[in-house]
Amino acid sequence: MRHFLTLLDWSGAEIRRLLADAAKAKAKRKNAKGIKSLANRVVALIFEKPSLRTRVSFETAIAQLGGTSLFLVGQEVGLGTRETIPDCARTLSEYVDAVVLRTFRHATIEEFAAYARCPVINALSDCYHPCQALGDLLTMQEIFTTLQGRTVAFVGDGNNVARSLAIGCGKLGMRFVLACPQSYGFDQAFLELYQSHIPDSELIICHDPREAVTSADVIYTDVWASMGQENERERRLKQFRSYQVNEELLALAPPHARIMHCLPAHRGEEITSEVLESERSVVFQQAGNRLYVQKALLQWLFSDKKSSPAAKNRERSAHR
Ligand code: CP
Ligand code: NVA
Repeated sequence: MRHFLTLLDWSGAEIRRLLADAAKAKAKRKNAKGIKSLANRVVALIFEKPSLRTRVSFETAIAQLGGTSLFLVGQEVGLGTRETIPDCARTLSEYVDAVVLRTFRHATIEEFAAYARCPVINALSDCYHPCQALGDLLTMQEIFTTLQGRTVAFVGDGNNVARSLAIGCGKLGMRFVLACPQSYGFDQAFLELYQSHIPDSELIICHDPREAVTSADVIYTDVWASMGQENERERRLKQFRSYQVNEELLALAPPHARIMHCLPAHRGEEITSEVLESERSVVFQQAGNRLYVQKALLQWLFSDKKSSPAAKNRERSAHR
């Protein structure tokens, strides 16, 4: 049984295979009716934070593959409040075949996965957003065909989205440049983890967005204050002001460079409307690709033949 908590645990070859499977799922989308690889499977989604893309793309993927999804609001489940995280993980494993979790603390997902007896997927935590990175890499692959040797300039906060994309790029032989204000880069603990998993990667942290974009194939940005950081918003708006992705910055990038954003976007803050709506922006292609990478991921995780407690319970009741 395998979890999907961070791309650090997946090899470059495995990520490439997931992207290839996702590309196939996308190519077949018009006649996807026949593929019901999640028939009889139930997947619980527990979200402690709001979501449009992640929730809807997972629920759509599960429905199109013939499975059933259950959406549970984190506060109602009470992970670690109404009952302990291990109790919740072991109970849910008796009913469902996989759990998709969006939490404030990454430690919640790690503890849940340590006790779950079914695959657990990270749907965003304060540290990582690996499903987003898979969708981003598929989008870049569609645009550039080969990923190796490409450069992503991430302009803004060294947040969950940046960390996961940096890992994905490192695993696929791409350069990742983070342009951020002082003290908003990657922390030492993450850098050590990154270095130990991907020692040969090219990860550059700088503080000048203009320098970062000059050799970029992709210019990527995300909100300056992530969910859970609302009380830092005013301070961050001031500190990040010179990191906006706008026409002036774009003019310094190579003409082929594309604009990416995980969305939701705060227009007029980290990115201008003009740039988000420009021909160089691929943000909706990127959002759409979440569906296909998550289909590929679910199918991969369910290809494990070992029965989960929920599957065994189902087999027992079918024989009665
Ligand atoms: N990009 C992304 O994960 O969006 P949601 O927060 O809407 O799921
Ligand atoms: N960094 C953002 C990403 C949202 C998809 C957040 O965590 O709020």
